[in-house]
Amino acid sequence: MGGNRNIVILTGAGVSAESGIDTFRDGGGLWEQHRVEDVATPEAFQRDPDLVLRFYDKRREAVQTKEPNAAHNALARLEAKWGGDVLIVTQNVDDLHERAGAKNVLHMHGELLNAWCTACDARSRWTRPMIDRPACPACSASALRPDIVWFGEMPYRMEEIYGALRQADLFVSIGTSGAVYPAAGFVRDARELGVETLELNLERSEGSSWFDETRLGPATEIVPAWVDEVLAQALESGIR
Ligand code: APR
Repeated sequence: MGGNRNIVILTGAGVSAESGIDTFRDGGGLWEQHRVEDVATPEAFQRDPDLVLRFYDKRREAVQTKEPNAAHNALARLEAKWGGDVLIVTQNVDDLHERAGAKNVLHMHGELLNAWCTACDARSRWTRPMIDRPACPACSASALRPDIVWFGEMPYRMEEIYGALRQADLFVSIGTSGAVYPAAGFVRDARELGVETLELNLERSEGSSWFDETRLGPATEIVPAWVDEVLAQALESGIR
């Protein structure tokens, strides 16, 4: 593939699995330990804020003990070396893409390491617990919530994502089950736009049949291999 084409990459929990971060729907995943409606909806936060805050406090603390893996590092390398645009649209709320060096990362489901003040609407970088109702750094109100898009809430920056898909030459989906919309529908949007589509996943996802190509395996193996392949192709086409 020519080295100046635009790539949109969608990542899901599978890209962080080998860093030791639980996925949602694999065996033992987060949704086996908690019911979504108890910890990941606005109603849950109204009903039992302590349960919700503790759930995210635990994940926020855990993420800070994990490291990016070879898949995150390969995607950051691609972004740095690629002649065209690379946008990483992630459903993940960890910061491992950024810690691997990726610059152009769009968190459509929010970020564990951000706090969102329900009093003044400010978002602040946040690494500590919220259970003790700390003061908002911007307005001092004790009104912080996790900056996470809960079920029933609108994912972030959707217009930007669709704009990037319209400019894309290749859409790559990595480590996602294709179970949650609107992310699960991006492959169909891409196909309708005539964009080439590739899936890199441990097992076939629900939307596998929509992809031009699917490669199966652990992200730490198949993502670096794919990045090496497209960078080598770009070099070759650049030389000719
Ligand atoms: N390498 C590659 N893929 C993997 C690996 C791995 N090591 N381990 C698991 N996977 C794949 C699984 O095969 C599965 O398809 O990652 C996917 C994980 O699926 P989910 O647990 O459903 O995670 P995700 O698709 O990111 O969930 C989407 O659902 O609950 C919401 O907001 C939450 O962002 C999340 C969204």
